[in-house]
Amino acid sequence: MLPNPFLTDQPVAVSLLSRFRSTRAATMAFCAPLTPEDMMVQSCAEASPVKWHLAHTSWFFETFVLADFVAAYQPFHADFKWLFNSYYKSLGEMPEKKLRASFSRPPLELILAYRAHVDAGIEKLLEQHPEDEALRRIALGLEHEQQHLELAATDIKHAFFTNPLHPAYLPAQAASEEIAPPLEWVGYTPAMPGLVNIGVTPDPAAVEGFAFDNETPRHPVYLAPFRLASRLTTCAEYLAFLEEEGYSRPELWLSEGWEMMRAEGWQAPLYWQRDAATKSGWRIFTLHGWQALDDLSETPVCHLSFFEADAFARWAGHRLPTEFEWEFVAAQLAAEGNLLESGALHPRTGSATADTPQQMYGDVWEWTQSPYTGYPGYKPLPGALGEYNGKFMSSQIVLRGGSCVTPQTHIRATYRNFFGPGTRWQFSGLRLARDGAN
Ligand SMILES: [Fe+2]
Repeated sequence: MLPNPFLTDQPVAVSLLSRFRSTRAATMAFCAPLTPEDMMVQSCAEASPVKWHLAHTSWFFETFVLADFVAAYQPFHADFKWLFNSYYKSLGEMPEKKLRASFSRPPLELILAYRAHVDAGIEKLLEQHPEDEALRRIALGLEHEQQHLELAATDIKHAFFTNPLHPAYLPAQAASEEIAPPLEWVGYTPAMPGLVNIGVTPDPAAVEGFAFDNETPRHPVYLAPFRLASRLTTCAEYLAFLEEEGYSRPELWLSEGWEMMRAEGWQAPLYWQRDAATKSGWRIFTLHGWQALDDLSETPVCHLSFFEADAFARWAGHRLPTEFEWEFVAAQLAAEGNLLESGALHPRTGSATADTPQQMYGDVWEWTQSPYTGYPGYKPLPGALGEYNGKFMSSQIVLRGGSCVTPQTHIRATYRNFFGPGTRWQFSGLRLARDGAN
């Protein structure tokens, strides 16, 4: 059961309608600089074409809302039900993911018409003040839309990196003169006996507080005293790891990570490329095109796998935080930072350190050391929606905090992102942690 994020009186459907319009519009606004050909590219196994994202997010609303809550609903197109299903096996067969790049048909105009059809259907439904379950599904669909907007950004970044012309999504940006503040340690000692509450318990009467099922239920977790770095790890710090032969020292790596790094030929984060014309010898591909590492050295390092983040932490003499340490600290801070709406679309240099950790939200998803599993008492949503999160609870690691391409209204302290430990195409970086409060 999802928490009910709505007032029980009138404004519910109205506020949801407003959010629906702005969320769907944000996806289309992101697509504005893209050509129809850009939207066809699927340049790595993890990515999908932007055109597919546009269709699939509409499919989600059609399948889980319109088909279930609109009487005698007529699907927009008979084939879309299976064509744009991503991974919901209880709904039937779907095309292999790698085939999404072959979808030159249906044409983009038809996908856009599909979006308009679904938009009109949801708006009409909301005007009729549907039952609570329909409202909950629409709210879930908006969170889903935001997830796919973030994926569209990371997928098009990879697509442009793969293109020999290396086009930029945004105009080039000037080098930042800012210097990252010194790394400090902020200590935490949870009150005896060291139990802190993690996660969310759904509250049917809550006005706000959407949470995915994987954030539930709220439960106590033991935390020993720990320290968290006051800011994210920077490119300059990561370069030092590279220059001290970090990628050639097996003692720094988890076994599986070492094997993967060697097999994949990793020598640096994804999007770093050697460039003799720069002082540091490296350039980095961004959504603004190539930039010399020298110009980004104070910004947070990103596009690391869990294995690289973990090896760096070991080299630095520290460790990655657990997801519970991260949440305990983040829950005390406002969910603000360099998120999608800043328009930077790249991590930014941290500002002066206060007595609380900076950059907890936005910039980069922070790899934790925690495996992605269900909390005690976890129950997936009923029916096909139970496939949304629960079935991925194996061989994945939790990331926290959102990135520079995460929408502001999408992130919160309890949010659990998850990817396989070799994943690098997301804006994923790290923050160090260590044992003991001082
Ligand atoms: Fe999806």
